[in-house]
Amino acid sequence: PDRGPDRGPGVDTEVVAHRGSSGVAPENTLASARQALRDRADEIENDVQRSADGVLVLMHDTTLARTTDAEQVFPGRAPWNVGDFTLRELRRLDAGSWFGPEYAGERIPTLAEWGRVVGNRADVLIEMKSPSLYPGIARDLDRALAETPFRTALRRDRLVVQSFEIDWLRAYEQASPAVPKGLLYGTRPTPQQIADAAGWTEWVNPSFRVIEESDVDAVQAAGLRIGVYTVNTGVDMRRLVRWGVDAIITDYPQVLRSVLGR
Ligand code: G3P
Ligand code: CA
Repeated sequence: PDRGPDRGPGVDTEVVAHRGSSGVAPENTLASARQALRDRADEIENDVQRSADGVLVLMHDTTLARTTDAEQVFPGRAPWNVGDFTLRELRRLDAGSWFGPEYAGERIPTLAEWGRVVGNRADVLIEMKSPSLYPGIARDLDRALAETPFRTALRRDRLVVQSFEIDWLRAYEQASPAVPKGLLYGTRPTPQQIADAAGWTEWVNPSFRVIEESDVDAVQAAGLRIGVYTVNTGVDMRRLVRWGVDAIITDYPQVLRSVLGR
């Protein structure tokens, strides 16, 4: 799009902290959210799943094995699926030590707790991770979004819900059209997919590894915005800024800010 005479590439590029500032603090914890705020990220991303007793919590993998001590705490509960554990059980886990001893005792946060930390100090990018594993999770999400600060963020158009599961996201659009949506792609989105996304989703968010410069133009020509993940080197950041992407999702928001000269 024509950004006007004084607005070069990067002026509007949103700096998005991926799972918080997950390059320097354990992903999807309050520590990485606080770090992202200190890094002055424009927006903070997370990954949302649901406990066995119906509470929305932050976790990327569908099992607890990689980022917690679940194997030690609950040795008989393989394969440690997130949705098999109650919130009380999840609270017993250490979600920080795997990243570094200084984060020992960091807990799995609920979405509501995370929201209270982020407040309205950054925009919110909620990823619903494998939502088809959690029947009815759209209702749980809507209940969460009805509370402050998410309600405020929504009113200000500062909150997006994204997912790789297009069928789930489409159904969620039917149920909750007022919530802005983002479609995640691990493979290069086809012209047909971009055309299909226009009209009901606001963002197309592919892996930066799969796209060409022409895809940026195609998405924007369809009236959509494009955010790319997960971009962690200055060389890649500079190229994508030059291509005019609308948002860059990174584990290192501080590096991106310096690339952007902010
Ligand atoms: O926000 C985009 C990105 O988070 C999608 O991939 O696997 O890191 O959740 P993943
Ligand atoms: Ca994610």
